[in-house]
Amino acid sequence: MKEHTTSSADAPIICVVGARPNYMKVAPIMRAFAELRPALRTLLVHTGQHYDPLMKDRLFLDLELPEPDVNLAVGSGSHAVQTAEVMRRFEPVLEEHGAKAVLVAGDVNSTLACALVAAKRHVPVVHVEAGLRSYDRRMPEEINRVLTDQIADVLYTTERGARDNLLREGIAPERIEFVGNVMIDSLRANLVKATPPAQSLAAAGFDAGRIAGGHGLVTLHRPSNVDRPEILGPIIDALRRIGERLPLVIALHPRTRANLERFGMLDRIGAPGFLILPPQGYLEMLGLMAGARMVLTDSGGIQEETTALGVPCLTLRENTERPITIEQGTNTLVGIDPEAIVAAALAALDGGGKAGREPEYWDGRAARRIAAHLAAWLAARREGTSGI
Ligand code: UD1
Repeated sequence: MKEHTTSSADAPIICVVGARPNYMKVAPIMRAFAELRPALRTLLVHTGQHYDPLMKDRLFLDLELPEPDVNLAVGSGSHAVQTAEVMRRFEPVLEEHGAKAVLVAGDVNSTLACALVAAKRHVPVVHVEAGLRSYDRRMPEEINRVLTDQIADVLYTTERGARDNLLREGIAPERIEFVGNVMIDSLRANLVKATPPAQSLAAAGFDAGRIAGGHGLVTLHRPSNVDRPEILGPIIDALRRIGERLPLVIALHPRTRANLERFGMLDRIGAPGFLILPPQGYLEMLGLMAGARMVLTDSGGIQEETTALGVPCLTLRENTERPITIEQGTNTLVGIDPEAIVAAALAALDGGGKAGREPEYWDGRAARRIAAHLAAWLAARREGTSGI
């Protein structure tokens, strides 16, 4: 095995995407790299972790991401299989193309897998959205976050508290740079193009008049919430009770749909208060979120997007790695107790929900900060003055 990957002066920065939440983070970064003078050359690698057209192609179009230069087509599998398969297929790509750096985002299995391959080949790893911690190691994403940050050379953070988390884990302070939230760059750039909720419902065959008096939006996909019938069943029942007050639009993740089918629970989502949609495009989701009276979710990114949009968010989890959305934003942790979920939703409906303010640097310019910083970092490294 070769120890080093050749990294000639014109080698690209390899940008990795694998799963849905990566796309909205990497799209503005690639644009900002292209706009720099001189531009930073990139190579876009899709690992194929998400592969359904609804989980990939549609979002690429919406976000104006170029077709990936390389698709590793790993598909689904256990965590070990998926992570190992990404690593196995990514290494020859890195060897063939060389790279000045490998840029990974977020906390999905593809993030860790590609970071690990790069680090072992002595290629600098750049981690976007570093330092977020739920302190819950039962979450696969938490393992991915902690390990990726340990081997990253440049760590870009979205909120100031992330730096403290990283320092506690022994990360050298000069590696950490607070740049703000690139996902919010995508949100701000695309909000004017968001699809009106009525249009998304009509496209799925629903009478859009059903949400004329307002709607709530629901997303659920986290394994801890959807992989066991004794957890998922009561959550659905709580949602049905909320649906009696406010029609709930549910954008159903493939994992959740498959589980409902397996548990014989598909009929429970036929409740009159529910409007079940397939996974939505990015512009549809923006419209559905921006127009919602409240959002109920277990997603990480949606906690941030609702804060940026000023829409109350009830998070069906016991913890969050994004505390700023609670401290400054519109997010409330409600857990998964059905009574607590219903009580919080009705209180938000009656009281108008939590108001928040825009966190620092969630201003649509985070990707430009990354581009400027990384260009300088690479130049300093070439001259041997980066100190890393
Ligand atoms: C992954 C991420 C999670 C992120 C989520 C967003 C990890 C550990 N998890 O979870 O952090 O919030 O993406 O969606 O990386 N499937 C399809 N079509 C697809 C992709 C998946 O049908 O295009 C089904 C498969 O049956 C698969 C299941 O969904 O087994 C789960 O997909 P997977 O990529 O393993 O994780 P997610 O639950 O999507």
